Amino acid sequence: MGGKSPRPVERAFPIVVVGHVDHGKSTLVGRILHDTDSLPTGRLEQLRTASANRGLELEFSFLLDSLQVERDQGITVDSAQIWFRTQARRYVIIDAPGHTEFLRNMVTGAAVAQGAVLVVDAAQGVSEQTRRHGYLLGILGVRQVIVAVNKIDLIGHDEARFNAVADEARDYLRGIGIEAAVIIPLSAKHGDNIQGPSAKTPWYHGPALLPALDAFHARASVADAPLRLPVQDVYRLGDRRVVVGRIEAGSVAVGQMLRFTPGGAMARVAALEHWRGPMQTSAQAGESVALSFDREVFVERGHIAGPELSGAAESYLATVRLFWLDAEPLVEDETVTLRYGTAQHLVTVEAIEAVIDVEALTTAPGQRIARNAVGRARLRARRPMALDLFSTSPRTGRGVLVRNHRVVGGFVVEALPDAAANLTRVDAPVTPAERSRANGHRGGVLWLTGLSGAGKSTLGTRAVRQLTSLGWQAQLLDGDNLRQGLNRDLGFSEADRSENVRRTAEVAKLLAESGFVVLVALISPLAAQRALAREIIGEDFREVFVAADLATCVARDPKGLYARKLPGFTGVSAPYEAPVLPDLRLDTASLSAEAATQQLLEAAQAAFVGQ
Ligand code: ADX
Repeated sequence: MGGKSPRPVERAFPIVVVGHVDHGKSTLVGRILHDTDSLPTGRLEQLRTASANRGLELEFSFLLDSLQVERDQGITVDSAQIWFRTQARRYVIIDAPGHTEFLRNMVTGAAVAQGAVLVVDAAQGVSEQTRRHGYLLGILGVRQVIVAVNKIDLIGHDEARFNAVADEARDYLRGIGIEAAVIIPLSAKHGDNIQGPSAKTPWYHGPALLPALDAFHARASVADAPLRLPVQDVYRLGDRRVVVGRIEAGSVAVGQMLRFTPGGAMARVAALEHWRGPMQTSAQAGESVALSFDREVFVERGHIAGPELSGAAESYLATVRLFWLDAEPLVEDETVTLRYGTAQHLVTVEAIEAVIDVEALTTAPGQRIARNAVGRARLRARRPMALDLFSTSPRTGRGVLVRNHRVVGGFVVEALPDAAANLTRVDAPVTPAERSRANGHRGGVLWLTGLSGAGKSTLGTRAVRQLTSLGWQAQLLDGDNLRQGLNRDLGFSEADRSENVRRTAEVAKLLAESGFVVLVALISPLAAQRALAREIIGEDFREVFVAADLATCVARDPKGLYARKLPGFTGVSAPYEAPVLPDLRLDTASLSAEAATQQLLEAAQAAFVGQ
């Protein structure tokens, strides 16, 4: 990888040329190439012939067309870019022949434009498409914009007309938060105000186009930003797993601890692998790397590696501003594919929060985003996504929307919920009041605690059978049973027992919310564990102490466990804290099973029926 592409000596400044299709973009780009001497050898001659064949003067737009044809055949990313050089620096035009291509290039292209030329026809003025393209520049964070008022020759170089168009353009851009760097009257066809001042517009005192471009500021290097390395692929190199990708922002060095989102796997960079190039110990934005780590990392394409503490966010939800291109509008509840970096996610449009009129710049509620419209939507994925806000990480905070394998829109991530908000509480489909009307009782929990052999399971089973025969909704959660399924990973350490209690309390709560009277039979030896259960379940929790002294339990020993003298056995070699003030105490050493069960039924009646 290291030797594949030598680092460019000078990075080209990326720009886009946008505007209404008939306002002269191609001619302007052709003119720029011509005036900066950037045409491939022989191209100008071809162009002259082509123009002459059509009985026309030199047509710069033909030039672009001919490049376009090559690109369509070549289909490499590089050829979608057009290079030129002024005295000050090199430029690359991320070409924008149409909306879709423009978006695709802007959103997934290798370069993000740092500046734009918005072309407006002097005679036609600002059109809807001009506004849309301007708006798109705003969404995509391009803040340096030159307005080229083209075909100034067609309005007789008229200052007043130029001013009117300039005002229109300036006002619109201001409305979307862009201050035009300069508004230039020019003629792409005749070359006026391209390289230097034109004698035909003596009333214009601003810069010509190329000097104005040279005045654009280069953005601070993305190499200084926190690392963003979208994982392209993971494979084995000998016995090592190697993670391959292109660094989108920041830098990476041997010894650095990385965190992968989603999932949060962490690993330290052991080496930057190399095939042909020289050995490297660090790499930065724009470079492709193959990393091996100090431990096995289980990550896959679409994950993003970042620094330990400032990695991409992990979220099922994203609020995006999107630009829609498909004839079939985007509607709520539909599922589309989100593609950004190397990731791909199926997302459901949970809500269309606003539809933005890019002409009037007004925002209105709506359920659909039509072709060429802009909107804000909340999207929910089925798996967690690694995402960045566009405002803080433009390279990873944007992408495209895909429907039926076609790019149908572009988006930037505008807001991410904080971690907890990722889990939305769904309102109960049937309210507790409705359930209790149907069942004749509320849901709730009788939590039976006591030594092994005290009779919890026996009483719990009897109570549930009787309640059921009386028409109640009742269920038993028994420690021994749960430990064969849900809690099979837990032993009898204090921590495991606490977790046993916590999980069981959560399940009991769910059942109680579904209207059941739940009998829980769990030793739950510590007061703190039972307090936690009460906290989880809330007011419909009742603590029942199934009390039998140890001697009685040992004598009963229904499962033969006391005889086996197990280590850490409750009441023998592990503590049991008897409840001090239980809601109900059943002395099973003296009470019959029937009588104790009867008391349980009465407790249920008192707790869960009526007010
Ligand atoms: S709790 O302490 O975590 O609440 P739980 O009620 O789920 O315990 O499980 C207790 C059951 O596990 C007992 O009825 C018994 O069958 C079995 N058991 C196995 N080892 C132990 C032990 N060391 N202490 C208590 N019960 C044990």
